[in-house]
Amino acid sequence: MENSRRSFLQQFGALSVSPLAFSSLSTSDWNQTRSFLENQKHRSDRDIVRDETYWKEVAKAYHVSEDFINLENGFYSLAAWPVLEAQWQHIQRVNEMPSYYMRNYQWDERNEVTAALAEFAGCSVEEMVVCRNTTEALDTVILGLDLDPGDEAIMCNHDYGSMRAAFNQRARRDKIVNKVISLPLHPKSDEEIVAAHEKAITPRTKVIHVSHLVNITGQVLPVRKICDMAHSHGVEVICDSAHALGHLDFKIRDLDCDYWGTSLHKWIGAPLGSGILFVKKEKISKVWPLLGDDGFADDDIRKFRHFGTLPVTGHVSIMDALKFQDTIGITNKQARLLYLKQYWTEKVKETPGIIINTPWEEERSSGIANVGVANLKPRELADRLMDEYKIFTVAIDNEAVKGIRVTPHLYTSLDELDQFVEALNKLNDKG
Ligand SMILES: Cc1ncc(COP(=O)(O)O)c(C=O)c1O
Repeated sequence: MENSRRSFLQQFGALSVSPLAFSSLSTSDWNQTRSFLENQKHRSDRDIVRDETYWKEVAKAYHVSEDFINLENGFYSLAAWPVLEAQWQHIQRVNEMPSYYMRNYQWDERNEVTAALAEFAGCSVEEMVVCRNTTEALDTVILGLDLDPGDEAIMCNHDYGSMRAAFNQRARRDKIVNKVISLPLHPKSDEEIVAAHEKAITPRTKVIHVSHLVNITGQVLPVRKICDMAHSHGVEVICDSAHALGHLDFKIRDLDCDYWGTSLHKWIGAPLGSGILFVKKEKISKVWPLLGDDGFADDDIRKFRHFGTLPVTGHVSIMDALKFQDTIGITNKQARLLYLKQYWTEKVKETPGIIINTPWEEERSSGIANVGVANLKPRELADRLMDEYKIFTVAIDNEAVKGIRVTPHLYTSLDELDQFVEALNKLNDKG
């Protein structure tokens, strides 16, 4: 454990002096951890989820700062050490033969990554491109659909700002009409959520934008049921799965949405600047590529990958992130993240003054939760947790939600969550 918690500066110092010496030391540590994890793969999620010995071993693969407890893994999740190490090797390899690599090898490697991702995410390679992030993926669709003045789009007050901004731009530029519905923080049923969307549909509705896993509260929405309802009205669905891939165990095809995007630097733990745009085969020709393309047919998904020169080594490393994740398995990963959320929320959910803004039911939950303290503004709560207790979270203060977002990761220990609960209780008492 000590070894895995070396500070970033120490690691960076070691890297800059002798990358190979540091890498090989770490590789042998990792090989031991990997064989331990692989020997446990047959165990069921119910069995493994509370096995702290197992999760301590997983934590060894993550090198995190010892300066604070990081409960803000939502912006992006650090890559595990084996992924970073592989990326470093890709950087060296590509850098040694830069243009030659780009002209001769990059597409073979990038296509291999696309195929592995398509299999993991559950779609065809003819329906997805690797891009830089969810914003790029979904804004391509929002800005690229043919929508006429008066056409309507439905979205929700919990949706991410970048997608709302793209719709707002279309309202200003093309005079489309955006209808923003309110999502209940504690829905009673899937039907309540589906009905809230259905009520907003009119004969002019063309598209519904839905968040799969709401970033500010951790609420999981019944995407498939929303898609079924929308399709029965001839309405298309854009799904924002920024936080869902690598966090929830699902396949894109099971959602049956028309357009979908994710960021791989969140829960897949791939290097920063990697994401997926998925477009259902029969919908590809309906969307204009953001940056323009005349090299591929209108119904060829590759028209969307006309991005110019990209940091290809990050994209190649997605393969290493998928391999690392596979040593744990997505079912166990989802179960553990949910367990961590239930572990700490259970301890404070009945405490007067502490307000949980996240559903309790497992099917509506993830590893993310949002909590408020009645006497403190979100910003003050987040600042005091950091200043007084060295616990890093993020304040969420908008018209829909007031609280802090708490996002543990696989490396988070129960002891760290206990420290967080103690701090929360003290701040609640003191006000
Ligand atoms: C729900 C949701 N959608 C989209 C995004 C945008 O992701 P990115 O910045 O990787 O494009 C985020 C980022 O946190 C998010 O939480």
